Amino acid sequence: MTKPADRHIDGVISHELLKQLAYNEKMAELGRISAGVVHELNAPLSVIVSASQMILREEDVPEFVREMIDRINIEAQRLSQMTRGILSFSSQEEAGGDADVNLTIEFVLDFICYEAARRGVSLMRDLDHRLPAVGVDSNVLKQIIINIAMNALQAMEAGGGRLLVESRAGNNSEVSIVIADTGPGIAENALARIFEPYFTTKRPGEGTGLGLFVTRTLVENLGGRIEVSSSVGEGTSFTVTLPGEEPG
Ligand SMILES: Nc1ncnc2c1ncn2[C@@H]1O[C@H](COP(=O)(O)OP(=O)(O)O)[C@@H](O)[C@H]1O
Ligand SMILES: [Mg+2]
Repeated sequence: MTKPADRHIDGVISHELLKQLAYNEKMAELGRISAGVVHELNAPLSVIVSASQMILREEDVPEFVREMIDRINIEAQRLSQMTRGILSFSSQEEAGGDADVNLTIEFVLDFICYEAARRGVSLMRDLDHRLPAVGVDSNVLKQIIINIAMNALQAMEAGGGRLLVESRAGNNSEVSIVIADTGPGIAENALARIFEPYFTTKRPGEGTGLGLFVTRTLVENLGGRIEVSSSVGEGTSFTVTLPGEEPG
C-alpha cells in the first residue's frame, strides 16, 4: 500500500510543506499590503466620482463630453464598490451579530462576480425573503460563503457552468444557505476527506487544503452544520445550516 506523501520527515517539515507554508505566508503578506493599497485608492476614487457627477450636472456640456464623463463616473463607481468590498472582506473587526443572510449573500455575489466572469460562470441567486434573523457576525458569514463559492469557481476553471446561491428558512427557525455548482464533482474517496486540514487536490501554490477545514470550524462554532453532496460529472452542493435567533 502506498502512503500519502510524507509531510514530516523525522520531525522536520518536508520540502513540499515548507514550500506551501512559504507561499501561504507570501499571499498573506500580499493580502495585507493590498488592503493598504486599496485603502489608498478610496480617496481619489471618491474625488473622481463626485467631480464627474458635478460636471454631469452642468448644463452646457457637449453631448460627447457628457457621454465620456458618464463612462468615467460609472467605471469609477464600479472600482469604488470593489475597493469597499475588499476592505470590508479584509477587515478583521467583527461586524457585530445578526447578519442579514440575504444581504451577505448579495455582498459575496458582487464580490466574486469578476472571478465568475473570468471563467464564464453565471452566478444565480434564489433568496427566501422571509428568513428569521441569525445571531451571526456578517464578516464570519461572508468568509464562510466566499470559501465555499471560490472552491466552486476554481472547480469550474475549465470554463462555463453555473453557481447558484440559495437561502431557505428551515424548521425551528433555522436558516440554510445552499451553494451549488455544475462543476466536475468530487470523487467518493476525496469526498470523505475534504474537511481534513491540508487535504487538497490542487497543485502546491493553488490550494492550502485549509479552506473547508476553517469553514467547517467557523460554522460549528456558530452552532451550525455543513453538509455536502456531490456527483461526479454533475456538480457539488454545500449546505450550511445555522440556528435562528430564539424568539423572545
Ligand atoms: N465545489 C467543489 N467542486 C469540486 N471539488 C471541490 C469543491 N469544493 C471543494 N472541493 C475539493 O475539496 C478540496 C479541499 O478544499 P479546501 O479545503 O477549500 O482546500 P483548497 O481549496 O485549498 O484545495 C479541494 O482541493 C477540492 O478537491
Ligand atoms: Mg479552498
